[in-house]
Amino acid sequence: MKKILVTGATGQIGSELIMTLRNRYGAGNVLAADIKPALNDELTQPGPYYRLDVRDLSTLKQIVTANNIDTIFHLASLLSAVAEQKPQQAWDVNMNGLMNVLEICREYRCALFFPSSIAAFGTETPSMDTPQDTIQRPTTIYGITKVSGELLCDYYFHRFGVDARGLRYPGLISSKTLPGGGTTDYAVDIFYAAIKSQHYACFLRADTQLDMMYMPDALDAAITLMTADSTQLKHRNAFNVTAMSFTPQQLAAEIQKHIPEFTITYSVDPLRQAIADSWPRHMNDSAARTEWGWQAQFDLPAMVKDMLLNMRLLN
Ligand code: NAD
Ligand code: SER
Repeated sequence: MKKILVTGATGQIGSELIMTLRNRYGAGNVLAADIKPALNDELTQPGPYYRLDVRDLSTLKQIVTANNIDTIFHLASLLSAVAEQKPQQAWDVNMNGLMNVLEICREYRCALFFPSSIAAFGTETPSMDTPQDTIQRPTTIYGITKVSGELLCDYYFHRFGVDARGLRYPGLISSKTLPGGGTTDYAVDIFYAAIKSQHYACFLRADTQLDMMYMPDALDAAITLMTADSTQLKHRNAFNVTAMSFTPQQLAAEIQKHIPEFTITYSVDPLRQAIADSWPRHMNDSAARTEWGWQAQFDLPAMVKDMLLNMRLLN
């Protein structure tokens, strides 16, 4: 990785990935791009920032060729809850955007990182110890675009030799940028509420268990996979990765260890509850451990402590 483009760069992952990549590979070698303007100077300075709609193939091509890009982290996407409100737009952005990026990777020999999700599974998948290779019949439009994206990446590798790699991320928790409209967003919102008003009304049921990961681990996973020895990769793409698995009730109890006055109530949103109920509770990520040495650093207590520390400093 010498010249890197990150699409969807102002989002929850992109806003932190850009900084990590710029520190490692040099600010001028990591280009940020998003359909939205950059919200702060961190993204536009010191490295380059482009306005880009990933559905616009010619602008994408222009950016890649003008900058000799060799690696693309393709993060631009609509997330699960937003996608359910706008299914046609979700298909357009998630699929046509990915197709454009894959075509550019084929033509200009770029490597690709594509983040899939626990959403790529469905109700027929084993929900505990979810295998790497198993049935995938998602019931959400977001999940359908993720399975299709996984298959498209595999196709471009086998058919055209595009080095397309990817992870199935669980819900991601971070303190820098708010999540963009997913079902696991509660696990970030709860920290803002805990600090502001010591109370949170959760949109998922108390016992909704889902896989989760703290952002430093998510960034580390992406970069480690992209720099892994390709001869060791049997799957290459769509690796299950997880770090912790908990319910809203368990997360609230961990926060209460630091903020005893914190309380939680439940005001269930049927749409997001149905999405969460269709996802696995805990994935088996042994393929990632074996093939490229995946190992999470943060468990639930460590993540909560670090989140509160960062957010108290930020607020
Ligand atoms: P996000 O919603 O925070 O950011 C997505 C970004 O894409 C936004 O900045 C948005 O402006 C941009 N975007 C939307 N449409 C675009 C278009 N047409 N052209 C260019 N940019 C466009 O999402 P995120 O949490 O940063 O997720 C990034 C990727 O990781 C997505 O593919 C998502 O599905 C995947 N993922 C995220 C999580 C999570 O918990 N955050 C979990 C699993 C997978
Ligand atoms: N966190 C994401 C979402 O809830 C999962 O991909 O949409």
